[in-house]
Amino acid sequence: MLTHEQNENLTRVGPGTPLGRFLRHYWIPAANLEEIAMPGGAPVRVGLLGEKLVAFRDPSGKVGLIGEFCPHRRASLAYARNEVGGLRCLYHGWKLSPEGRVEETPPEPPGSKLKANLKCHAYPVREAGGILWTYMGDPAKQPPFPKFPWLDLPPAQLLPVKMYQDCNFLQGLEGDLDPAHPNYLHRDFDVDAGKSWGGAGWESIARLMSDGAPEILCEETPYLMRVGAVRKTNDPKKNYVRTTEWIAPFYCYIATGPHESQLFKAWLPIDDVSCYTYYIHFNPSRPLDVPATYANWGHRTENGTYRTAHSVENMHLQDRQRMISGNFSGIEGAAIQDRAVQESMGAICDRTQEHLGTSDKAVIFYRRLILRKLAEMDAGKSPPGLDPALDFKHRTASWYSPSDEPWQDVLRHQERYERENPLPASA
Ligand code: FES
Ligand SMILES: [Fe+2]
Repeated sequence: MLTHEQNENLTRVGPGTPLGRFLRHYWIPAANLEEIAMPGGAPVRVGLLGEKLVAFRDPSGKVGLIGEFCPHRRASLAYARNEVGGLRCLYHGWKLSPEGRVEETPPEPPGSKLKANLKCHAYPVREAGGILWTYMGDPAKQPPFPKFPWLDLPPAQLLPVKMYQDCNFLQGLEGDLDPAHPNYLHRDFDVDAGKSWGGAGWESIARLMSDGAPEILCEETPYLMRVGAVRKTNDPKKNYVRTTEWIAPFYCYIATGPHESQLFKAWLPIDDVSCYTYYIHFNPSRPLDVPATYANWGHRTENGTYRTAHSVENMHLQDRQRMISGNFSGIEGAAIQDRAVQESMGAICDRTQEHLGTSDKAVIFYRRLILRKLAEMDAGKSPPGLDPALDFKHRTASWYSPSDEPWQDVLRHQERYERENPLPASA
């Protein structure tokens, strides 16, 4: 349970809020590159950390991310003409450069100095891994771009999925901090169905169903934190251990087992009451099974909208008949199952009313850690994950480990298993 003030500090993302200032220390996704693929195409509205922006690619290919509202009299630049060198506002023809300069003010008299003193918000951008990235913080403190290894994979090995979620980002993020919930929310009864976890090649999730009360362990890392979930097996000498790696400010690698495709996630606040989840599915060594991935997670969005048909109003299309023999939730797809419970809490979950238990250990650890990091930031200390020496190479595990060994050693056992049991070349 949190105080109201702690809940506010962990959820509000606008400029000037404690968390908003923390988040503005990092490179974060702003849009998918497919949204601004065409040079000279329509500018795209981008809601990010409570700010309203537009992203665009000018006819020469240059990309900009600037404040949505024209500095003259605030018309939206989403309507603007997209010209070489910037956006031209429809209302009176002012031209704004990708750097946020006012280049032209045509209705003003010759020699007018008006534009010289004006600037609109503009943020630096970077194109990588199918995503337009930005940094919204103090220019003097811009960190190195995080070298996530999946950014350079060929398209067949990388599937970035972006999905709108109608609630504060922390409700989503805390789902990924919760190793016990898959045993309930994501349980399939019909394990032979093609859409079951095993059917989609994620045996690691099918395996965890054997123990619904894992021991949860957490530790701080230079990136943020690591979580371990230790499950008993039939053999008292062997545990089933899953690890999750957390990278500030809102990134994580989900636990995945030997030879499985991997999953990087981002919980990107649009504002205080909505967010985008990024599911970055990737496989460093071979092509992804895209249809199985979509079927398993249920997160294929409707063309260009980054939304699915599910909502609180339509109960996320829950099917009570299906709850008898299909799955625990009656909802199709793990990503939609997550969204259903997270959106059901309301726009910003009232954490003053919670009653947390042992299974919430990682959620509690994260909240305390972030509140401490916010206080340290105010005391002048650099937030986590910004040391230029960090290499951003992470690998999670979901495998068996001797019960008398440290939980973090499970990755070593998983990697040994992979070496000793290589996949056939054609797999
Ligand atoms: S409002 Fe944009 S040019 Fe006047
Ligand atoms: Fe989940």
